[in-house]
Amino acid sequence: MSSRKKNLAVFCSGGGSNFKALHQHIQERNLPCQIVMCLSNNSQSGAMQFARENGIDAVHLSSKVVPEEAAFAQAMLSELEKRQVDLILLAGYMKRVPKAVVERYPKRILNIHPALLPKFGGEGMYGINVHRAVLEAKEKESGATVHFVDEHYDEGEIIIQGKVSIAPDETPESLASKVLEVEHRIYTEALVKVLEKMN
Ligand code: GAR
Repeated sequence: MSSRKKNLAVFCSGGGSNFKALHQHIQERNLPCQIVMCLSNNSQSGAMQFARENGIDAVHLSSKVVPEEAAFAQAMLSELEKRQVDLILLAGYMKRVPKAVVERYPKRILNIHPALLPKFGGEGMYGINVHRAVLEAKEKESGATVHFVDEHYDEGEIIIQGKVSIAPDETPESLASKVLEVEHRIYTEALVKVLEKMN
């Protein structure tokens, strides 16, 4: 059993507020892990800029550049393996993780989803679409879920959830910002739980 800090890879497509919150909490709480890379399909994303500014390897990997599926998966695996990544955290990563990578990291890939799974998950349910669907369904509450990634979209074992109540005048945007606050809190809690089980 090794006592070295666990190496984390964070996958992002957008602004990366969850990535930034994780980075901050890992430092403030002196957690036994370190973010060794940020991978993104978007080289100009806020997440990638944050990585570069904070001395974290920013790895751009896009199917536009590597269109062949097996080669894409291999490129991803080689970036992970060369940094001895123990855990992958999807934080607003809007692409599917290749099957070969999911199989190589069983119970080692986490995702955060902006709703209370199993409701409002699956294909097409990302970002603001999720909050629109929640309001259209006239739900009384929503929230966020951190779960393990398996071969089925948004269906892996749930690690933690956090709830928010929905106000009568709620808009998709106001709900998104309430849920995002919960996300920033529970992603670190989920990480702590998973790290405890790994030691
Ligand atoms: C977050 O709300 C996250 O839950 C969502 O994208 C946003 C990314 O924000 N992810 C999904 O919808 C995945 N299905 P961030 O880039 O500021 O962390």
